[in-house]
Amino acid sequence: MKIAVSLGTRPEIIKLAPIIKLLESRGADFFILHTGQHYSYEMDRVFFQELELPAAKFNIGAGSGTHARQTAEILVGVEGILEKEKPGIVLAEGDTNSVLATVLAAVKLHIKTGHVEAGLRSYDRNMPEEINRVLADHCCDYLFAPTQKAVGILRGEGLPEEKVFLTGNTIVDAVNLMKDRAAANRRVLAAHGICRGNYFLVTVHRQENVDVPERFAGILGALKTLLAEYRMPVIYPIHPRSRKNLSALGLDAGGLTLIEPTSYVDFLALELNAALVLTDSGGVQEETCILRVPCVTLRDNTERPETVEVGANILAGASRENILNCAELMLGKKPAWPNPFGDGTAAHRILQIIGAGA
Ligand code: UD1
Ligand code: UDP
Repeated sequence: MKIAVSLGTRPEIIKLAPIIKLLESRGADFFILHTGQHYSYEMDRVFFQELELPAAKFNIGAGSGTHARQTAEILVGVEGILEKEKPGIVLAEGDTNSVLATVLAAVKLHIKTGHVEAGLRSYDRNMPEEINRVLADHCCDYLFAPTQKAVGILRGEGLPEEKVFLTGNTIVDAVNLMKDRAAANRRVLAAHGICRGNYFLVTVHRQENVDVPERFAGILGALKTLLAEYRMPVIYPIHPRSRKNLSALGLDAGGLTLIEPTSYVDFLALELNAALVLTDSGGVQEETCILRVPCVTLRDNTERPETVEVGANILAGASRENILNCAELMLGKKPAWPNPFGDGTAAHRILQIIGAGA
């Protein structure tokens, strides 16, 4: 059976890497379909290089645009490729516009679809990601749920039992692939003049934060206060959406250490050694939980409640005072929580389920 692996953004490349590497090592009949949603070197190519992934056979080159334009471009592009290649199954991961469009194109062509990281819900329909993940789950034939909670959500929405599989999250597999290299990586710390436990690490890129001036300003204000109160640098590898909005909205990030988005090994090293991570990223909430680094989530809700339940993460929203209180609380946490995302064999399980096992 021919397998199409569709991806388009930074987190999809990282979370599908363990599946792609297994497919490659087994000599499976597969190809990578890149939607081109992310295209800058530091959001795309760097991960193929570092994770040693084979090149995409196709790149639709959808690029940036409004939700409708981007989704439509990918939908049309994926349809053409699937009609030509006729894979037996298409795998997609996560909750981006790339996932929605891929799944929609495939299901209308009656091609089997598998959703990696199914069953996550923030119950916040203002987030484009929530719409994408609900629709993807309800279209797909195989739902690879990372946790028991996600399994329960899918069953609760009436999805047939036989479609739902508890696999763990492939982010654990990805971290395992790279964590030794990250642990040995002193270069990135030296480059920014920081050492273990003496800095904050920040990522903020979600539309509902950085496209809304009051929220982005509130977060930046809190980060500047953290820097002043704790006298620890705030390292912020800034996503291109956030960089663009910072200047468009005329906001001031003075004092914060803004750096280009980093490679995966560098980012894992920055996470591993941080005193505290503040983020609105989904993947970063998971990784900090797995690596046992305390996390403050700069959102009002999360589709990763397991991280909060085990004590690794807290929801702070975007208000200055909440963020400062949550940071203080999490800095005092003993990082001894269990990892709720599985044992690092999610990729293997997913391939077994679709009949591409060893
Ligand atoms: C997308 C996902 C989001 C995910 C994030 C991962 C959707 C709706 N959103 O958000 O869920 O968390 O990816 O990082 O799918 N840009 C570049 N270079 C790039 C890509 C983007 O400069 O390689 C800039 C462009 O100005 C673009 C903006 O970033 O307009 C936003 O990119 P887009 O892909 O629309 O959404 P993300 O914010 O990256
Ligand atoms: N990441 C990275 N370099 C960075 C920031 C993040 O390699 O500068 C990785 C991070 O380790 C995680 C993933 O990107 O695996 C998260 O992607 P992102 O936050 O863009 O998307 P989300 O998970 O929110 O959808």
